[in-house]
Amino acid sequence: MKSQLLTILNANSEPVSGEKISEKLGISRVAIWKHIQKLQACGYEIESGPTGYRLKNAPDIPYSWEFSQRESRIHYHDHVDSTMDTARQMARKGCPDFTVVIAGTQSQGRGRMDRDWASPQGGLYFTLVLRPDIPAVMSPRVNFATATVLAHTLRDLCAIDARVKWPNDILVQGQKISGMLSELEAAEDQVAYITIGIGINMNNQPPSNLPTATSVRTLKGTAISRKKFLADFLDRLEAKLLAQDFSTVIEEWKSISATLGQPVRIVSRHEVIEGKAVDVDPNGALIVETADGLRKTIYYGDCFHNPV
Ligand code: BTN
Repeated sequence: MKSQLLTILNANSEPVSGEKISEKLGISRVAIWKHIQKLQACGYEIESGPTGYRLKNAPDIPYSWEFSQRESRIHYHDHVDSTMDTARQMARKGCPDFTVVIAGTQSQGRGRMDRDWASPQGGLYFTLVLRPDIPAVMSPRVNFATATVLAHTLRDLCAIDARVKWPNDILVQGQKISGMLSELEAAEDQVAYITIGIGINMNNQPPSNLPTATSVRTLKGTAISRKKFLADFLDRLEAKLLAQDFSTVIEEWKSISATLGQPVRIVSRHEVIEGKAVDVDPNGALIVETADGLRKTIYYGDCFHNPV
């Protein structure tokens, strides 16, 4: 109902009478007033006067009702420990494919390799629950597809030169703007669900202890609507995943890669490998050519570009 009410208010710059809204939505004027009060409590500036209601300003908060087509699958929380945990609990209880858990802030946001992910106000933090009908070995392709779609959304909506860094970071001018964390549950080698957590430095200051991080607002000098960005990204990604064509995903990733051709150092729990990143194989593994001409296939690790 909030979604329909906002559609009416958004379409009118003049006040809309309670009577007219009541006719359109088929609910009483008292019920409308209650919805208006709830929206106001959520930060919407809605004037109410003798001629009706007028929306003056809407907060840039990705509430579920801002996503009319997918409202029932969007779960917004002002604050959680980590959207990864909330999403996993929902996945285990059987939530539908393409459920999205979003948080305004996180107190225990986490990244790859057991790192923390600072999650202050203004950033975009969410986890997708995906249920692709594919064998578990193919799951990296879903991650690569997601990173590629995200980079293209940043390019198209924010006009920035977003590039993918192996495995799934997004860099702009060599600085990290987004990170991705993927967790998988499989049953008999088939994917049961994948939770993909994405943190985007959107309108927040990038963490000061990470000089190699940036944010969209830092680059553009102006804030970008997080709800519009997320709506667009989700539409693009869902269309991509519904097409179920994972054959071109790695090639698409490679075409906007910041890693290929670079001297790299890969640090995993067991070893450090240095060399030149020359390729990514169909499973998403990075191929590094070492100084002695050997080609190593790397499945997991931290990737540093241009190590000194
Ligand atoms: C990384 O670069 O190491 C991955 C960072 C992933 C951060 C996101 S924010 C939303 C989701 N919730 C988390 O706790 N982590 C992911």
